[in-house]
Amino acid sequence: MCGIIGIIGKSPVTPHLLECLKRLEYRGYDSAGIATLESGLIQRHRSEGKIHNLQERLKTINPQGHVGIGHTRWATHGVPSERNAHPHATEKVAVVHNGIIENFAELRFMLEQKGHVFTSDTDTEVIAHLVTDYLDHGLTPQEATSKALKQFHGAFALALIFQGHDDLILCARRGSPLAIGLGESEMFLGSDALALAPLTQKICYLEEGDWAELSRETFTIYTAEDLPVERPIKETFLTGAMIGKGNHKHFMLKEMLEQPTVMGDVLRAYSNPSTLAPSFPEFPVAAKDIKALRIIACGTSYYAGLTAQYWIEKYARVPVTVSIASEFRYGKPPLPQGGMALFISQSGETADTLAALQYAKDQGQMIVGMVNVPESSIARLSDVVLETHAGPEIGVASTKAFTAQLMVLACFAIYLGGHRNILSEEESKKLFQSLMEVPEAMAHILSEENTVIKIAHALSEARDVIYMGRGTSFAIALEGALKLKELSYIHAEGYAAGEMKHGPIALIDEKVPVIVLAPSDELYGKTASNVEEVIARKAPVILITDLEGQKAFEGRVPLSLSMPTLHPFCLPLLYAIPMQMIAYHTANLKGTDVDQPRNLAKSVTVE
Ligand code: M6R
Repeated sequence: MCGIIGIIGKSPVTPHLLECLKRLEYRGYDSAGIATLESGLIQRHRSEGKIHNLQERLKTINPQGHVGIGHTRWATHGVPSERNAHPHATEKVAVVHNGIIENFAELRFMLEQKGHVFTSDTDTEVIAHLVTDYLDHGLTPQEATSKALKQFHGAFALALIFQGHDDLILCARRGSPLAIGLGESEMFLGSDALALAPLTQKICYLEEGDWAELSRETFTIYTAEDLPVERPIKETFLTGAMIGKGNHKHFMLKEMLEQPTVMGDVLRAYSNPSTLAPSFPEFPVAAKDIKALRIIACGTSYYAGLTAQYWIEKYARVPVTVSIASEFRYGKPPLPQGGMALFISQSGETADTLAALQYAKDQGQMIVGMVNVPESSIARLSDVVLETHAGPEIGVASTKAFTAQLMVLACFAIYLGGHRNILSEEESKKLFQSLMEVPEAMAHILSEENTVIKIAHALSEARDVIYMGRGTSFAIALEGALKLKELSYIHAEGYAAGEMKHGPIALIDEKVPVIVLAPSDELYGKTASNVEEVIARKAPVILITDLEGQKAFEGRVPLSLSMPTLHPFCLPLLYAIPMQMIAYHTANLKGTDVDQPRNLAKSVTVE
């Protein structure tokens, strides 16, 4: 979390710093700030809240410096306020930081004993003071920074500028991503390539432990042991336009509407056009030899994993365990030699997932990374990468990235089932054909806005909402509840329909809407009984089902959304869509910030 940017330019850098920060705002939006060098002196400008506030403040100041750094913050240490906003600085150095300096308290104590005066509650400020301390002892900026870096524990991406050095930015990476962008007699750095897209397409990623020295004409990367090292320079195909909102009110709306197209892209990427069978890169372990699969992820990506568990166990007969990344390591799970671990992450940078990946790697697992950002840390640490091809997702709530994950996982289940001789060719084809019907069915559901808005009206006054379903619909119910919580701030929980009677049904009364996902599949009868139990306790039921499923409840539930009837295999992909639409429209009615909900960030790079 937190976005950082640095530019050594040929003209005043402030407009570019602000533009890049806007593109990083998805990483956090508690405060923003920049520091530039004006006639060799560090000038800082910071504001609480979104970048817009900083932009307004800078209109009158109009800094002219040709070198500068910028930051957009997701608060960890210290409340969101101007005094805690980055950059943190002394007279000699200014720093922006993404991550956490875990030993900041002892460093701060040591520096205060030496007379350093701190002005914020952040962990970051120790970086500025420790580097200054070494500068005070006559070290060069490079020597001072390298020495300080060795004293920090924790995860960070850093950028620093120095008084009197207008052709220098230093930066470092440990645990948090950082990319250098190469220009024509200009140099850039940022938390991701997306931020730099309007400035350059030439990107060089720092690797774990690297630090680097940038000037207008060149850059040098050093390892953690201070040895110069070459890292590859890559062309990115990201453009400024790709991450625009178009004419849509929100990124989330745009991204929801893109889903039918994304589904087509994923199908094209994971199928063989002549046989119409799933096609995957070669895995170090043959599909027929996979004994067990461990799936590990966070948030929405975790729910994609839960859905896949049903698919892979049923259609490929591989035992699957799905773990929340932030909990995975704590039981020190024994992992079989030669086992497969699949890490699902939109950003590919989630700190919890990365830490779990490292654990699995140390246990000799084959690492498969399913990511939406091919240059991400998870991709770079994986033995096999499965790209989700959703395109940049900017809205904090995951939508198209989720359904893209589901589509890859559905193809993967068929692939495994076929290669393990569980599915016949005919069965595989039938399942795959059902996936090919998804884009059109999704487009149809997305056009059912009017019914969804009625549902949103019913939810917008509620304090608590319950989602329930069975089988894969349980996994999608969990995702529905997460979407509603994060966007509308209404308390919502997802339950396995059969689990209600074991406790949660005590919550039910006429004020608690219950959203039921009940396609008329083999589980419908049992879910319908659970709906009766809820109706008997006077809860307003919102039924999401197909025409067949609606019949039993005609006139007995206040609201119902009619869904297309397709093969049960592909229904999670379809039922995910009303989950997003309901949350989106409820949030809109409540007037919450749809693209940047409070307290959240798109890329969660702290544990
Ligand atoms: O980038 P990742 O997929 O690893 O992110 C995981 C979660 O942080 C993410 O899915 C989060 O739950 C979303 N805000 C949900 O909409």
